[in-house]
Amino acid sequence: MGRFRREAGPVRPVGAATYIGPILRTPEAEQTMHRTEFISTGMYVPERVVTNHELEGYMDTSDEWIRQRSGIEERRWAAEGEGGSDMAKIATERALEAAGMEASELDCLIVATLSPDHFFPGTGVFLQRKLGVTDIPCLDIRNQCTGFLYGLEVADAFIQTGKYRRVLLVGTEVHSSGIVLSTDGRDTAVLFGDGAAVAILGPTEDPDRGVLAVRTHADGRHAEKLWAPAPACVNKPFVTSEMIDAGLTRPHMEGRDVFKHAVTKMPAALIEVLEVAGHTVQELDMVIPHQANMRIAQAVAKGLGIPDDKMYINIQRYGNTTAASIPIALHECIEEGGIRRGDLVGFTAFGSGFTWGGAVVRW
Ligand code: ACO
Repeated sequence: MGRFRREAGPVRPVGAATYIGPILRTPEAEQTMHRTEFISTGMYVPERVVTNHELEGYMDTSDEWIRQRSGIEERRWAAEGEGGSDMAKIATERALEAAGMEASELDCLIVATLSPDHFFPGTGVFLQRKLGVTDIPCLDIRNQCTGFLYGLEVADAFIQTGKYRRVLLVGTEVHSSGIVLSTDGRDTAVLFGDGAAVAILGPTEDPDRGVLAVRTHADGRHAEKLWAPAPACVNKPFVTSEMIDAGLTRPHMEGRDVFKHAVTKMPAALIEVLEVAGHTVQELDMVIPHQANMRIAQAVAKGLGIPDDKMYINIQRYGNTTAASIPIALHECIEEGGIRRGDLVGFTAFGSGFTWGGAVVRW
């Protein structure tokens, strides 16, 4: 399938919930613009399961401390030589199979990751090559835990305007090579895990379905509250053995500040997109939050008045997989029958930057 050719689509009925996004809707545009639907999803996590008890052997921590503070019981670690593009390739093949599509039918590839295979070029081109595809744009997104929603906002704009018809949106992370397995690095080493998941997105002819609203935000005043100080091109050279020895290449986090902001920004982001779409929290059938931490998800649910069975949580098994966490949770929730056609599904994320955002989708 080639690039999207503009063709006459359905005119939305007056008064229907209309996306009031950054794209100006004129009566003419209404006739050609289509909402974005999730055509299929796919995921892959590495085979190696790392339990909290295994971590007790590397650092001064305990299964009880990790469970109580984060809800995490185990996570996956990629094998030596297994990068984000390798995991994303398998997840993509699964999503293509589910959609009955070939990789050659993809028009555009968007990869959200904070743990790229290499400093440059981006992970997108490595994934493209592994999929055996050439000459489609590969866009890498660096927005950490909110990366998948930033990618969704970009993909949605591409699809609505008819620029691309089949967009592969990827979240993939290998944290296991960046964490430090010692007591010095324990505050973050126990939280993060590896994994990948993708969504294939395209235009829907049904005016009542698809992405109803997606909004993203950032506040760079908090950039150093969750970051890796090195490698850093502000230094010459950008990495030294002294930096590594000083622990500057591992994640550094002001955990309490992250917690405080996450539990206010995540509900606010979801409420914002619901208002844009003309819906309420009570109408949501399912919420897929970024899997930051069980306590954050519980606080978000409580703050919004969402019952436990409408907030999908799988952090117990994977830890925090950053940009991959929303698509992994989405895929598993669909597989378990937690999302059905016609459901109203909310997404919300918060992370390093700080960045945050929300989306609401009629499935
Ligand atoms: N095992 C055992 N003890 C630990 C560990 C560990 N892995 N990590 C830290 N500690 C110790 C600390 O050293 C400290 O010891 P001290 O009292 O002797 O100084 C003690 O535990 C308490 O440390 P705090 O940082 O105060 O612990 P807190 O109760 O705040 O919990 C946590 C830390 C879990 C990080 C919490 O702040 C939190 O949930 N923050 C949100 C951060 C988060 O979820 N980040 C994920 C990535 S960002 C995102 O996705 C949005």
